[in-house]
Amino acid sequence: MSSANVRVPAKINLCLGVGPVRDDGYHPLATVYQAVDLHDEVRATSREDGEITVSVQSELDVRSEVAFVPEDDDNLAVRAARLLRDRTGVTLGADLAIRKVIPVAGGMAGGSADAAAALVACNEAWGTGLSRGALEQLAAQLGSDVPFLLHGGNAIGGGRGETISPVLARGAYQWVFAMAHEGLSTAAVYAEFDRLTAGTTVADPVVPDALLAALRAGDAEALGAALSNDLTEAALSLRPELEDTLSIGIEAGALGAILSGSGPTALFLAADEQHSLDIAFALSSASGCADVVQSRGPVHGARVI
Ligand code: C5P
Repeated sequence: MSSANVRVPAKINLCLGVGPVRDDGYHPLATVYQAVDLHDEVRATSREDGEITVSVQSELDVRSEVAFVPEDDDNLAVRAARLLRDRTGVTLGADLAIRKVIPVAGGMAGGSADAAAALVACNEAWGTGLSRGALEQLAAQLGSDVPFLLHGGNAIGGGRGETISPVLARGAYQWVFAMAHEGLSTAAVYAEFDRLTAGTTVADPVVPDALLAALRAGDAEALGAALSNDLTEAALSLRPELEDTLSIGIEAGALGAILSGSGPTALFLAADEQHSLDIAFALSSASGCADVVQSRGPVHGARVI
């Protein structure tokens, strides 16, 4: 029986431009992803009998609503393993053991991260030998964020998020994440976006030049000022209390503060380690935050460890 253990990061969106809903129900995006130092692990152990099982274990009970992670075929990691099996014709199965740290339904692509990790882990454990490029194609079928979580680092996301292209970037960034007590459904936030923009003209999304210039220069202050998220209004409409969380971080001097993806995790950019501690301290006394985490980015995508 062979097994492989894979570490996979969470993602944040430094900008998230959202266009008008497409015929397939998805929204065109113009985003810059960054992989951050908050990792799940997925171990795949091959099985001769062809069964695919999943178990989920939480390291941090407060923030991971593990009860809401399905331990059946609805789990995106299981779907990833099945897809790889169908693509390669392998007859083996796998036991997938997920160790969750990335918040569930937090706007940090936790479910997509586990799917990316399952692809890499099963590819290794089964010896199927698909290239990164071939895995990225499978990843795009699983979810909009999955290809980026294989890729890691910084990247521009187009299409519905699944098309990844390189971005010139330098520097390491210090982040503070404020996790909420309860997750938000990505689909519900996009539906609220449609409701709020109904009857208006939604422009095609673009990545702001100021953000690209800040990343090229490795300028944290300019990056903080350029952070943006078109889903903010929709997420705040569903969770008005997140406005207070964002204000607390801004008052504590964050260089920038936005929601991560569709929320509800709020992210704050700090100038350095001490600044990050100050912001984290201010947020940890706020009633709306279930947990506050200091982190760094960019980091690598899904990798065998
Ligand atoms: O691609 P993924 O399965 O992660 O998307 C989850 C849900 O988020 C979709 O079913 C859709 O409702 C919404 N979504 C969207 N436009 C995107 C990405 C996601 O409307 N670009």
